[in-house]
Amino acid sequence: MRMLVGLRTVALSSLFFLLISNVTAAVTVYGQTGVISQVQTDGSSPTATSSASSTFYTGLAAYNTTVLTAPALPNPLPATQFQVQLQGSSQDVNGLSIAQSGAFLGFSIEMSVVTQVIGLNTSFINPVFLNLMALLSQRAGRVDIRVGGNTQETAVLVDSSSLPAGIMIQKDKAASSNPTETPTLIYSAELIYLLSNVSALVNARWYLGIPMNDTTNLRLGIAEVAEAVLGQNLLGLQLGNEPDLYAGHGHRPSTYSQFDYFGEFGVVVQAMQDDANIPFRNNLIGPSVATGSWTPEMVWDTGFITSYTSSLIALSVEHYPDDNCAAAFPDSGFGDPKDTQAVFSDYLNHTSGINIIAPYLNSSAIAQQSGKPFLMFETNSASCGGFPGVSDSFGATLWALDYGLQMAASNFSGALLHVGGSDTAYNPFTPPPTNETGFHEWTIGSTFYSVLVMTEALGNTNTSQVIDIQANNNNEFTPGYAIYEQGSLSRVALFNYMTDPSGANDYTASIGVSGGNGTPSQVSVKYLQAPSVAVKQNITWAGQTLGTDIFKADGRFQGSESVQTVTCTSDGNGGNVCNVKVPAPGFALVFMSDGALQESSPTSVSTFATTSVTKTVNTVTVDPSVLATSNGQDGKVRAGLGSTSKGSANAAQSSIVAPGIATLLALLAGASIFRLRM
Ligand SMILES: *[C@@H]1O[C@H](CO)[C@@H](O)[C@H](O)[C@H]1NC(C)=O
Ligand SMILES: *[C@@H]1O[C@H](CO)[C@@H](O)[C@H](O)[C@H]1NC(C)=O
Ligand SMILES: *[C@@H]1O[C@H](CO)[C@@H](O)[C@H](O)[C@H]1NC(C)=O
Ligand SMILES: *[C@@H]1O[C@H](CO)[C@@H](O)[C@H](O)[C@H]1NC(C)=O
Ligand SMILES: *[C@@H]1O[C@H](CO)[C@@H](O)[C@H](O)[C@H]1NC(C)=O
Ligand SMILES: *[C@@H]1O[C@H](CO)[C@@H](O)[C@H](O)[C@H]1NC(C)=O
Ligand SMILES: *[C@@H]1O[C@H](CO)[C@@H](O)[C@H](O)[C@H]1NC(C)=O
Ligand SMILES: *[C@@H]1O[C@H](CO)[C@@H](O)[C@H](O)[C@H]1NC(C)=O
Ligand SMILES: *[C@@H]1O[C@H](CO)[C@@H](O)[C@H](O)[C@H]1NC(C)=O
Ligand SMILES: *[C@@H]1O[C@H](CO)[C@@H](O)[C@H](O)[C@H]1NC(C)=O
Repeated sequence: MRMLVGLRTVALSSLFFLLISNVTAAVTVYGQTGVISQVQTDGSSPTATSSASSTFYTGLAAYNTTVLTAPALPNPLPATQFQVQLQGSSQDVNGLSIAQSGAFLGFSIEMSVVTQVIGLNTSFINPVFLNLMALLSQRAGRVDIRVGGNTQETAVLVDSSSLPAGIMIQKDKAASSNPTETPTLIYSAELIYLLSNVSALVNARWYLGIPMNDTTNLRLGIAEVAEAVLGQNLLGLQLGNEPDLYAGHGHRPSTYSQFDYFGEFGVVVQAMQDDANIPFRNNLIGPSVATGSWTPEMVWDTGFITSYTSSLIALSVEHYPDDNCAAAFPDSGFGDPKDTQAVFSDYLNHTSGINIIAPYLNSSAIAQQSGKPFLMFETNSASCGGFPGVSDSFGATLWALDYGLQMAASNFSGALLHVGGSDTAYNPFTPPPTNETGFHEWTIGSTFYSVLVMTEALGNTNTSQVIDIQANNNNEFTPGYAIYEQGSLSRVALFNYMTDPSGANDYTASIGVSGGNGTPSQVSVKYLQAPSVAVKQNITWAGQTLGTDIFKADGRFQGSESVQTVTCTSDGNGGNVCNVKVPAPGFALVFMSDGALQESSPTSVSTFATTSVTKTVNTVTVDPSVLATSNGQDGKVRAGLGSTSKGSANAAQSSIVAPGIATLLALLAGASIFRLRM
């Protein structure tokens, strides 16, 4: 994500320049997506704006409605009927994974977009975000979220009195001498309280990052406040985000090596030990290497794990299998943009997930031997924002679920899908652009369904063990997994990556169980479905969808749930076989017992108020520069422009603030930042 940071910052600095220069007429601001908007700088009232222009919003990757073409059917075609013979008891299975939590898949939220996604402050928490997290925590028992990214490195925790009233996060561009450097992110303890207030409403646990841009200027305030405020809801503190790219980011010399990182890690460990305000010192996470010049092994070989074992709570890596930098940043030396249609098929088979994690299998084994969880701390389909049409398609739903199950089967202990701004295509969820909160709801990304289904596949007992069953002679278009919980076969996960509306490539898996309780007399099936791998909306899980279109989601299911019952029939040898059909495309989660189904079917659904108020923004006078620049294009800009919240829930009082006012205050809060900066 380093590419984004540097280049966005350039654009941000030109924006400041334009605002600072005393131009009286209209000036032209070039946004990061090439959108040009007129900014009135003479203080005149904004002209009434018309309703949203969908043309404009399809220019932002998160709302791109272009649907690609599903790839042609494979040749040769996979068999459409095959046996899945499984052991009923985990004792009889070799190669099952370590025990996994239903919260295996979580989210990595770029620190600078927290105000957009999570909330402005403790009184302005986005209800849609809460609804989405509630869906997950009701199934998995909890949801794990990392707040961080490149911006964590230069972040500074300050007293709230150093920030304008009501502001929690602010960019301090002036502090950064080099215009391509990540601007300093200044935030107050309110950010940590916000996370804590979220945890009081839904069971969210947090990973945070300690800044490491300069170990002669350690800023451990975040560790002190996070431990004090979050307590048990703090899962760990990341120390070093992609240190193999530090030299490239310019805050380390070009000779910076894994040995330097090892040494600096020790400096911070010592400083934490010397800090009486940091009671927990066993919660660090590293080395979070990207696909830079260092392999994880190069870090292990420094003695990292043994030297710091008492400080480490988990080991981590970060990875994106591809990048879309050339399209995101034309003329920046990345060459020609990749053809999204051509890369689509890279995400539509089982080989993809296997290939992505192959370089980490040695490390997941090393981690297990060391007694440390191994985390994929930041990942998604492609860096530099993903591929519109691919990263947001139903194909990506299947891909991320398969990739997630493959990591679970391979003894990772968790993986966090990255959430960026409106200019990224891969977001599992995206709030509307800031100036559209009065009109629009959120947009659910296709990979949110992957995380949702993963919670049901693994359940809430922390005992699920996963194995790739190499279904259908290990055909890469029809993979499957078996999941054992509390020692017994509980669920079978079956994928069909093909798209064939004729139905001719739907397949039937004939599931039989040996040992344990044998084949049940009936099983229940929930389907994850869409008409094609290319579609982006109306994806259904057990018949219900979270979004019928962009801007149409409030974080609650629409439609009624439908769970299929399959009666298992005689296999002719005195046993039963359960014939489960899997559509092309689609995914089936087969619940092998009523208990497994009940565990994955929460009875109560707590929702957070999302009263919609329309056109509030148009009825009030707001600084036009705020409207024009708060279009959600740029995380760096947006972080200063406030939340897209349409309403809020206060953890302590559960009171609801009038949504329209919330939006207005958000915009005005943004305005004050700009005035201050001038
Ligand atoms: C939307 O996605 C398609 C498919 O990747 C891409 O060709 C197009 O350029 C995107 N639209 C915009 C306005 O970026
Ligand atoms: C590290 O970040 C701090 C806070 O933003 C900043 O003051 C300092 O200059 C940075 N150091 C380096 C070496 O970039
Ligand atoms: C939260 O943000 C709103 C809008 O900016 C502001 O009015 C309010 O005072 C803030 N609350 C706190 C506790 O800072
Ligand atoms: C919620 O935030 C407020 C600060 O606005 C804080 O006083 C309170 O302790 C927080 N509640 C929780 C449960 O963290
Ligand atoms: C696994 O990593 C260890 C530690 O770096 C290394 O010594 C070993 O050769 C690696 N094994 C494989 C198969 O890559
Ligand atoms: C399957 O995915 C891999 C890895 O993403 C890709 O290289 C390969 O071309 C895909 N296979 C087909 C038949 O599309
Ligand atoms: C995961 O760990 C288990 C338990 O140690 C082991 O049996 C299994 O082979 C491992 N799986 C992989 C893919 O490494
Ligand atoms: C699962 O693990 C989490 C984290 O350790 C723990 O909080 C939770 O209580 C566990 N759930 C069960 C059912 O043991
Ligand atoms: C989703 O389905 C609804 C109901 O059939 C339909 O009105 C809507 O247009 C669909 N959305 C898309 C993006 O096709
Ligand atoms: C929101 O901002 C975008 C970009 O400046 C603009 O095209 C759009 O019309 C604005 N919408 C409203 C309702 O102001």
